[in-house]
Amino acid sequence: MKIIIADNYEEMSIKAANIVAEQIKLKPSSSLGLATGGTPVGMYQSLIKMYENGEISFKDITTYNLDEYIGLPENHEQSYRYFMDNNLFNHIDIDKSKTNVPNGNINEGQADAEAKRYDKLISNAEIDLQVLGIGGNGHIGFNEPCDIFNKNVFAVKLTENTIKANSRFFNDISEVPKMAITMGIKSIMMAKKIILLASGKEKSEIIKATIQGNITPKVPASVLQLHRNVTFVLDKEAASLL
Ligand code: F6R
Repeated sequence: MKIIIADNYEEMSIKAANIVAEQIKLKPSSSLGLATGGTPVGMYQSLIKMYENGEISFKDITTYNLDEYIGLPENHEQSYRYFMDNNLFNHIDIDKSKTNVPNGNINEGQADAEAKRYDKLISNAEIDLQVLGIGGNGHIGFNEPCDIFNKNVFAVKLTENTIKANSRFFNDISEVPKMAITMGIKSIMMAKKIILLASGKEKSEIIKATIQGNITPKVPASVLQLHRNVTFVLDKEAASLL
């Protein structure tokens, strides 16, 4: 396990972007696993700059996002598809038909079928580099703390904790979707290489538990200790308890 500690959020973002750029240069047809959330936004901005400077091209890249809310159309400002389009895809030369996000524009009754479809896609994908953030409770994707590690892509009922954390992006907590589709732990662990980004003091305890604690589904990210090629890219505050 590799740990990179940056001085601040900006430096963390650049270091993470450099790892992604290296992957793209090494293999221009890479498959990338991508995350949404606040943490990777700076990394996406750095990647856009590198593209604009002619350092990298995404034209042969395929992407697979970790997760998506159920019940939001693609053009809903809080859908993860909308997030990816606006924070990355619309600003680079990627072929949109090669960008994959679970379809969230469905009702809860259709969720299992969509999870199955996305699982098939991921299982055949061979992701070269997976980017992860981490929730304050140790979730990766929407794999919440529980009694067993979930394996494949699945439809998940979100915990009160996560609904509350995500409500900051909605007008009212009642608007936050109650379900999502997410890659499971096995889908994530199958990636050849993983980078997990974390920034800020509020992530320091969960980063310590993830890296130095027991491997347990109560801290879903702790499973990364078992991956053969994982790099944690942290800022000083997130790393402060290590
Ligand atoms: C997003 C995702 C989530 C986030 C996590 C951290 O696609 O899978 O697990 O990575 O909730 O979110 P931020 O970065 O907003 O703290």
